[in-house]
Amino acid sequence: MARRIVITSGKGGVGKTTVCAGVGIALARRGARVLVVDADMGLNNLDVALGMEGRVVYDMADVLRGKCSLRQAILQDTEYSTLCLLASSHCGEDGQFPSSAFRKMLAEAENSFDFVLIDCPAGIEAGFHRAVCVADEAIVVTTPHIGAIRDADKVLALLETYELHSVSLIVNRVRGDLVAGGSMMSADDISRLLRHRALGYIPEDDFVTVYAQLGRLGKGNARSDMAMTYVAENIVSGSRKIYDCTGEYKGFFGKIKTYLRRQI
Ligand SMILES: Nc1ncnc2c1ncn2[C@@H]1O[C@H](COP(=O)(O)OP(=O)(O)O)[C@@H](O)[C@H]1O
Ligand SMILES: [Mg+2]
Repeated sequence: MARRIVITSGKGGVGKTTVCAGVGIALARRGARVLVVDADMGLNNLDVALGMEGRVVYDMADVLRGKCSLRQAILQDTEYSTLCLLASSHCGEDGQFPSSAFRKMLAEAENSFDFVLIDCPAGIEAGFHRAVCVADEAIVVTTPHIGAIRDADKVLALLETYELHSVSLIVNRVRGDLVAGGSMMSADDISRLLRHRALGYIPEDDFVTVYAQLGRLGKGNARSDMAMTYVAENIVSGSRKIYDCTGEYKGFFGKIKTYLRRQI
């Protein structure tokens, strides 16, 4: 039976979709059967991050309306055969589909996958509830910015009211140079502040910006890919391998790099 993991944040734009796609790819690279589900109705973009938007024929709303079967709506990745996507409706039909229908639909997929990753919409309204109540585990994504940390704190408190086996944290968009120079809170500090175990730290990485638009996320050799690989390993084996975002800014050459980054 699949492990159902919701990826949430409260605040929008912190990297939920990016993490969902990146970790989905990293899990599939390890041979796991992964279904990534875009539960963000209306503002859906998981299909874009995975480069599958041109192939979507049926989406989740079609399944829930009985227009097609779940099997017909599930799209297989062309590069990683064990990675599949259930795309969301792009028509903003949020609220029309009750949690019970969503749960019933995902229950059908449970035996065919090892992991079901659910990309949660921003906010804490109906869409949030629908995505969280079908999951057994939650990953809260935050960035090292005060607004995102505050929202993550609120969401972590809210998640305590659900019956989840585990809730962990991913700190995304960590600027190693700023952390090394003492101008940004470290991911460790954030994890301590939010009192939750860190499943991973993802560096701020221009490759994410470029590759996500091209739908080629996780298919390069970017630092963020390495960080996502560690997250996947931690999810599978329970290890605590954390990518050191400050690594390249330490030591003699690291200090030069930090200095140079400040000039641009
Ligand atoms: N680690 C990162 N480095 C650089 N850009 C990132 C990173 N993570 C996310 N982004 C960018 O931030 C934007 C918002 O990310 P997204 O995953 O869509 O957030 P959310 O799903 O939480 O709204 C996107 O343009 C994405 O490419
Ligand atoms: Mg998103």
